[in-house]
This record gives sequence, structure tokens and C-alpha cells, in this order.
Amino acid sequence: MSRAQTHLRISALDLSVNHGAQSVVKDFSFEMRIGECIAVLGANGAGKSSLLTALSGEYSKARISLFNAALNRAAFMKGAVIMNGAPLLAMSPNQRARLRAVLPQHSTLTFNLVVEEVVQMGAYPFSEAKPEQVSQWIGASLLDADLAGLRCSKYSELSGGEQQRVQFARVLVQARAIAYFQGHAWIFLDEPTSSLDPRHQQLLMAKIHSLVKTLNFGVMIIMHDLNLAAYWCDRVMLMKDGVLIADDCPAKGLTAENLSNCFDMPMQVMTHPINPNKLIVVADQ
Ligand SMILES: Nc1ncnc2c1ncn2[C@@H]1O[C@H](COP(=O)(O)OP(=O)(O)OP(=O)(O)O)[C@@H](O)[C@H]1O
Ligand SMILES: [Mg+2]
Repeated sequence: MSRAQTHLRISALDLSVNHGAQSVVKDFSFEMRIGECIAVLGANGAGKSSLLTALSGEYSKARISLFNAALNRAAFMKGAVIMNGAPLLAMSPNQRARLRAVLPQHSTLTFNLVVEEVVQMGAYPFSEAKPEQVSQWIGASLLDADLAGLRCSKYSELSGGEQQRVQFARVLVQARAIAYFQGHAWIFLDEPTSSLDPRHQQLLMAKIHSLVKTLNFGVMIIMHDLNLAAYWCDRVMLMKDGVLIADDCPAKGLTAENLSNCFDMPMQVMTHPINPNKLIVVADQ
């Protein structure tokens, strides 16, 4: 690895997140690297979205007392996130937008835009990009999200799953732009497959899996489908009540013991019937 490449990582150092007095992410320390796809798994309310929001740089540092925080329910983080060698919170929103792309769990859009216009928003932080370059990113990302036929459709008239794929395509445009100018891109996806049918779930995960390698992406994906995570991700992080209880490759992290503890229900792990290098997870009720 060259000297420059050693800076291509995100380091979380004793990262904690509070919503008011409630601590929802507790003392996370880990590293994320370019070329890997990490699944974040855990029950509803475990703190996954709060972790991803902190890694995206959307929370400010604690500057108020816990007593005041409890009164106003403000969200804040403690510890540090270092992105490519620089503190994330020292960056402006535009600087962050030129390093990482984020798909939040809930996307809101009230304007009456067509699909192509929504997807194009991913290139907004890159005003210097040439129009033909942006068009190429949009075309490739629409194809990746299987949206070529809906390019001119009104976003507000799409189904829930189609809208989710449009938001994914928007994130891919931003990630392509970041990779074009930086040589690599960080991507945070909060439940990108939650509204997708089985074929589109597979398409999205397969696409991420290949783009991680071909375009130098480092990806973190929150998901509830344990089998998608087991099949497509290089690493799994299991969260329970704000605590990181496992951080390993699927073969070591996705044990029946870890999963049963994480989800408070009996779980079994087996060898995938078609691909013996992969695992499948089943509930053991
Ligand atoms: N804006 C907020 N204000 C107050 N509390 C919040 C806020 N957002 C999240 N919380 C609380 O923080 C905890 C963790 O929430 P978070 O959204 O991170 O969970 P999650 O693991 O993403 O869950 P899910 O799988 O349901 O999306 C929950 O108890 C939640 O009630
Ligand atoms: Mg969430």
C-alpha cells in the first residue's frame, strides 16, 4: 500500500451518540477501508441510523451539559471521526459532500421533479464537472438502479420501491463524482433494500459489490436482511442497545450465538446450499 493510500480510511475513535440524555451509540472504535463493504445489523432502535448519521458528519460535538441535553433532546456526538486523515467535524458541509455520499433511511422530496432531475442532484456539490461527464454519471447510475425506462417519469408518481431506487441512483451519481475527483468514495446507505422486491434487492447488492472493487468505494450498509448481508458483504458489525457486539467477516461474525444475542431470538447459521463459501441464517423458533 502506498503512503497516500494509508490515509484512505475512516477511523471512529470512542464514538458515542446521544439523543438528549439517551446514549444510543456507545464508545465505538473501528476503521473502515476503501474496497470493503460493511453491513451494520441490529434490532429496531439499536442505534444503527444514529451511528451512520454520526459517521456522515451530521451531528455536532457535545457542547452542552447532559442536563441541558436532556431538556431539549438535542442530538450530539462524542469522540472523533477521522476521514482520510482529517477530522470530519472540521469540514464544511460542501467538503463532506465531496468525500462521502449518504442515503438516509427516510428521503423526503416535495418538489415535482422527474427521475433524471432527482438523480442529477447527486452532482450538485461538483459545479466544476463538465455537463457531458455528469450525463455519463447519470446514465450509468440509472442503468445500475434499473431505472432506464423511468428516466422521464415524475418522481412523486413512482411506487415506494421505485423511489428508493431513484434515491440510490442519486447517491451513485454523487459517489461517481467523488471517485472521479478524489480517486475513491465513501458511501453510507441506510436500509437501501427495505422497499425493494427480491430481484431488485439482489441487483442492488450485486451492483454495490462490483462497484466497491471497480470504482474504489468504501461502503457501509444498514440492513435487516441477514442473508443479503451474509452473501454480499465483506464484514458485519452487529449492534445491540448501542453497543458493538461483533465486528468481523461474515464467517466469524455471523454465529448463531452472536445473532441470537443480537436479536433476542434463537437463530441458526448454515452453509449456503448452492455456494458453500457463504452462509445462510434462519430463525429457529
Ligand atoms: N431524532 C431523535 N430524537 C430522539 N430520539 C431519537 C431520535 N432518533 C433516534 N432516536 C432514538 O435513538 C435510538 C436509536 O435510534 P436509531 O434510529 O439509531 O435506531 P436504528 O437501529 O436505526 O433502528 P431501525 O432499525 O428501526 O431503523 C432509538 O431509541 C430512538 O428512539
Ligand atoms: Mg434506522
